[in-house]
Amino acid sequence: MKYFVGEKKCRFNLLVWCKTNCVPATNNSFLPNIEHCLVFKSNGAPKYNDGYELKSKWYISGTNKADKDEYDHPTIKPLELVKRHILHSTQEGDTVLDCFMGSGTTGVACIETNRNFIGVEIDPHYFKIAEDRLKGISQKDRRMEQYEKDNGILNIFDYIDNLEDLKDSLEKPNVNIRKEEQQDVSNTK
Ligand SMILES: C[S@@+](CC[C@H](N)C(=O)[O-])C[C@H]1O[C@@H](n2cnc3c(N)ncnc32)[C@H](O)[C@@H]1O
Repeated sequence: MKYFVGEKKCRFNLLVWCKTNCVPATNNSFLPNIEHCLVFKSNGAPKYNDGYELKSKWYISGTNKADKDEYDHPTIKPLELVKRHILHSTQEGDTVLDCFMGSGTTGVACIETNRNFIGVEIDPHYFKIAEDRLKGISQKDRRMEQYEKDNGILNIFDYIDNLEDLKDSLEKPNVNIRKEEQQDVSNTK
């Protein structure tokens, strides 16, 4: 606040995400069912895009349980929420920076809305998850891959690779057999 409003003279808005399925609070307190988002806008910054829904200060949805399982990040945000911010305040071809990328939700939102994306993540585990996610690989895929590796199970792609290897190895013994036959002949002489 001191920096953006005090020094940079930005205007700001407070947006709210209401969660419909928050973890029930214990300890005699209110439900933790809202998250706040501060939006700063400097003088001369491009105008926000129009649209009643885009401009609403409220966003209501559940926490992202499905993606939490899929991408293993405890505070993963709903893709639609992030997309809405991007659609509101940027144009196609713009570049969006997320300095706390987590599992890469902002990156996916950028791909889906034709924006460029720069992501920064301090935790190598989450960085890898985000990298996979942007390539279309979920952590369920990774777990399955690990399971197959641990249990010696071939997936269809390994199977095809193995068929190629098998083809090669079927050709190689013939070569060896011919060599042995030649050796045998020379031994009898
Ligand atoms: C709230 S999570 C972001 C979740 C993300 N929006 C998503 O949907 O997956 C914040 C992330 O910031 C990362 N982080 C914390 N401090 C950081 C730093 N100094 N530089 C880069 N990343 C950092 C954390 O490891 C965490 O994954």
